[in-house]
Amino acid sequence: MNDHMTTHQAEEDARNEDIKIFVNGQVIPRADAKISVYDSGFMLGDGVWEGLRLYEGTWAFADEHLDRLFEAAKAIDLDIGMTRGEILEALEQVRAKNGMETDAHARLMVTRGVKVRPFQHPSLSRSGPTVVIIMEHSRPSLPRPIRLATVPHIRGLPMSQDAKLNSHSKLNCVLACIAAEKAGADEALMLDVHGFVNTTNACNFFIVRNGEVWTSTGDYCMNGITRRKVIELCRTNGIPVYERNYSLVDTYGADEAFLTGTFGAQTPVSEIDGRHIGDGKMGPITGRIRQLYKDLIAAEVA
Ligand SMILES: Cc1ncc(COP(=O)(O)O)c(C=O)c1O
Repeated sequence: MNDHMTTHQAEEDARNEDIKIFVNGQVIPRADAKISVYDSGFMLGDGVWEGLRLYEGTWAFADEHLDRLFEAAKAIDLDIGMTRGEILEALEQVRAKNGMETDAHARLMVTRGVKVRPFQHPSLSRSGPTVVIIMEHSRPSLPRPIRLATVPHIRGLPMSQDAKLNSHSKLNCVLACIAAEKAGADEALMLDVHGFVNTTNACNFFIVRNGEVWTSTGDYCMNGITRRKVIELCRTNGIPVYERNYSLVDTYGADEAFLTGTFGAQTPVSEIDGRHIGDGKMGPITGRIRQLYKDLIAAEVA
């Protein structure tokens, strides 16, 4: 498909060629920002990360992002080696050095660090974590609603690799995305272990039916901060919202569908497995929720 796009598409911005990147306490030019080939993040995907967005000088929902980061680090027994305050200071330092005021996206990554030998055992990482912050000028630019395809890769049970971990290792999601692209779609819609519709490879997923907003129970998917905000916004604004199991039949027959994530906020979906959703354009409830979310961000940064 020649008009391929992704949910994380941004306007080209030449300034991103010369950004400064945080690597273990130093803020250095992009060309010099490197980590060891022995890093456990590179070798094994052994790390956790957060994606944050800057609006008018404020990192939106920073507390929630730091809560999730520290919870994930605790779960994988990784000492970040920095306090919440130090992480916020690091974000501020990189922001200032890059002269960014708004429309910036940060990928904050923490790995178990450099290994003494190229093998899996975590005890081989002995020199402390690797902390990297990549911060880019970023204005989402999606020329059209997204097309999804269901794939054979599922969201599994939490005892194998809990989907609530924002882990560096995302191979399951990457494979799902590849399968969707090969099916002619942009990204993947993933089912859970029971066959209910769960999430996409990189965002949370919602449908709208008869004025009601439905999303998965929250099991098997990322505990997305945008997902939670959308649910809360629906509740406080009289839009019926349900976290429930639903199938592909419910989904193909939906009036609207949209994705949520920090990068794109709410991204409309036009097509799933070749079935048009609604009239293929952003629906009125998706539009309303997008506006409510914009207002929420405005209040957050005021
Ligand atoms: C698999 C997956 N789902 C959903 C999300 C969206 O989460 P949030 O709304 O917190 O950005 C992310 C983002 O990290 C993700 O990796």
